[in-house]
Amino acid sequence: MSKISAAITAVGAYVPEYVLTNQILETMVDTNDEWITSRTGIKERRILKDDGKGTSYLAIKAAQDLINKKGIDPKDIELVIVATATPDMKAASTASFTASEIGATNAFSFDMDAACSSFLFGMSVAASYIETGRYKNVLLIGADKMSSIINYKDRATCIIFGDGAGAVLFEPNEENLGLQDEYLRSDGTGREFLQATYGGSSHALTHDILDEGGHYAFQEGRTVFKNAVFNMADAAEKILKRNNLNKDTVDWLAAHQANKRIIDATANRMELAPEKVMINIEKYGNTTSATLPLLINDYESQLKKGDNVIFAAFGGGFNWGSIYLKWAYNSK
Ligand code: UT7
Repeated sequence: MSKISAAITAVGAYVPEYVLTNQILETMVDTNDEWITSRTGIKERRILKDDGKGTSYLAIKAAQDLINKKGIDPKDIELVIVATATPDMKAASTASFTASEIGATNAFSFDMDAACSSFLFGMSVAASYIETGRYKNVLLIGADKMSSIINYKDRATCIIFGDGAGAVLFEPNEENLGLQDEYLRSDGTGREFLQATYGGSSHALTHDILDEGGHYAFQEGRTVFKNAVFNMADAAEKILKRNNLNKDTVDWLAAHQANKRIIDATANRMELAPEKVMINIEKYGNTTSATLPLLINDYESQLKKGDNVIFAAFGGGFNWGSIYLKWAYNSK
């Protein structure tokens, strides 16, 4: 019997309508379009303006897009995973609500959080459920309403992040397409450099802290940048070596969209031609768990069956890694 591999067989996405441009940010904090563009590559990001709508709203829309495109019956989905750093609520999972709203009433569901690596790690989890042979339809959604934890008076963070969601379906494949290999790592000593400190179980939210904005995300950009450049490139290089891949046999790099300079550094280390590097950071900024599925959604029409795609991400925690996946279909 041939080994069951886990392939992505459909993609969907959603970004909110409101566009927060660099020009608008210039009116909110001491920054300018030239600084943001040259330091990050970002021109605009999408923001979910409605306070009554959380990450699940984005996740549901992305999942519905996938369901409509693929024409599947949501009742056939067996597992819904929502990868997110900004769940709707602390105690009730965003995935359970999402699954019910999309009609995946035969599924079990859970959230998972590895900050900006949530979707990458989620690919590993989703694929493992398929590879065991126990499940045949796993929906993985990467969704974040980053605007819910961003201080729009802090120029160090508010220029970077945006809201969005992307969804992929994993199904068994017997042609050895799909997930081939992974290199995933965590180092908790890095958590002090990127975190939303207050409001969790270790640091209570008080009135004073709330007034000071202690519940918002904090980032020491320079330290995160250095670690991201080193570790993302290192992980991708290890995956290439282990699988006898090189700049000619790799078809695509799908790297977490945190900063164009980090993506370029990773691509350079792999010696990849620029046309093989997926980029959409200019449109969406850093959408945390949504960057990777938004990328493959944007590039879906260019992906061909058998293409060698290298995924790479780095994020808070610290968490990072790289996944090698063989694309499983030609889009219609
Ligand atoms: O997705 C999770 C992982 N996150 C990341 O990978 C993000 C990693 N970090 C970064 O992308 C970059 O560090 C940032 C984009 C956040 C910052 O870029 P940088 O080149 O590392 O800038 P910096 O923090 O070293 O600051 C350089 C200068 C400073 O001024 P001085 O001290 O040189 O006078 C900052 O105060 O730029 C100043 N600055 C700004 N100026 C205009 C910082 N933010 C801004 C701003 N507009 N928004």
